[in-house]
Amino acid sequence: MADNDRTSLHGLWTSRWAFIMAATGSAVGLGNIWKFPYITGENGGGAFVLIYLLCIFLMGVPIMMAEVMLGRRGRRNPVDSMRHLAEETGHSQLWRFLGWMGVTAGFFILSYYSVIAGWAISYVFTTGSGTFSGADAALVEQHFDTLTQSPLTLILWHSLFMLITMIVVAHGIEGGIEKAVRFLIPALFVLLIVMVLYAMTTSGFAEGLRFMFSPDFSKISTEGVLKAMGQAFFTLSIGMGAIMVYGAYLPKETSIAQTSFIIAFADTSVAVLAGVAIFPIVFSNGLEAGSGPGLIFVTLPLAFGNMAFGTFFGTLFFILLVFAAWSSSISLIEPAVAWLIENKGVSRIKASIALGLLTWVFGLGTVFSFNEWSDVTVFDKTFFDVLDYLTSNIMLPLGGVLMAIFAGWLMKREASQDELALGRGAYLTWRFLVRFVTPVAVTLVFLNAIGVFS
Ligand code: PFF
Repeated sequence: MADNDRTSLHGLWTSRWAFIMAATGSAVGLGNIWKFPYITGENGGGAFVLIYLLCIFLMGVPIMMAEVMLGRRGRRNPVDSMRHLAEETGHSQLWRFLGWMGVTAGFFILSYYSVIAGWAISYVFTTGSGTFSGADAALVEQHFDTLTQSPLTLILWHSLFMLITMIVVAHGIEGGIEKAVRFLIPALFVLLIVMVLYAMTTSGFAEGLRFMFSPDFSKISTEGVLKAMGQAFFTLSIGMGAIMVYGAYLPKETSIAQTSFIIAFADTSVAVLAGVAIFPIVFSNGLEAGSGPGLIFVTLPLAFGNMAFGTFFGTLFFILLVFAAWSSSISLIEPAVAWLIENKGVSRIKASIALGLLTWVFGLGTVFSFNEWSDVTVFDKTFFDVLDYLTSNIMLPLGGVLMAIFAGWLMKREASQDELALGRGAYLTWRFLVRFVTPVAVTLVFLNAIGVFS
């Protein structure tokens, strides 16, 4: 069997649709609904959104195509796929460290992702019990503060989320998640539209739209530009091998370009809808757009508390958010799990338990960074802030650009042409973007952020 006809040890997706669903499940998550609104709020709105969108389409999509392609050609976990592809093309084995950086980033991200997903689980219950009906801003803010000030409660929900993640990972890729995501993403979409309809009835709707869509470049800092780029990588799940590992399970005949566009489009729509739902509520209630990670946990309960059937919609919304986080968390740990299975001969179940426990312990750092350790900071950043900054703004863009360089410069042209199977114009555009645009853009954004141009 020729090596590039090889399939993965872990099986293949049952269809193109299954891959799209799994990858969209990975992409759509807390990044869209929790993180996008709050960092947009912290970075002044419109200009940030515009840069974010540019990054999605000029860097995100071409890099996603490169990453899926490397995975499908490598057919292994990211570390061994990179090692194998480097060998195949006669380049240094050091490329395997790109895989390692991804595995590490996934582990770091999951450790805090699970804590935030835990907040969402707890909100399923609070919203469900009607706590927020008729509530005012002071009450919902106080509820959020009480939750984040209690390490034990946070640990409980974090543990529950890690547990459900590991259960699915232990079952392998084509298990329940494929099926769950199939109705989950459309349902989340519908619910976001309900939220947007509600937002339209509030007094802050026009101001909310203006905040998100009218760019005022004086409001964005050099670091804001870096964050917009980081968010583009984070939200698409690219640059760390999650999409590579999913690509490794992709049948040979599936179109990489088309699927990447579909995924990016779905992902971006969810984020934009979330913003359009949330900012009007912020302005109608005199809340602070830049209030940080608690933003949706304050604005959404307020909206649910004051709309018709709010308890029902609210509970459903948080349930869907937990599912969206769940289908992302699986992909965060899959690269590490696949590595352990392929290299150490351990079973999927053992690999899942071991890595789950390790991630859980590391997650305690994030739990405490909201309470006991909130004063422990480096460069004014808590443990959670450091992890988030390091992964989204540095590791993912760096990982993504190295993948682009590998795919654009080191892989043989025939190989990428064969994998992507695009028309000439589209292929050349892709190649130009990965060879020149992405490396130059990422470098400029990095240099800009460290103050070289100011
Ligand atoms: N894209 C996910 C989100 O937006 O919530 C987070 C994520 C998942 C990032 C998987 C990176 C990753 F590899």
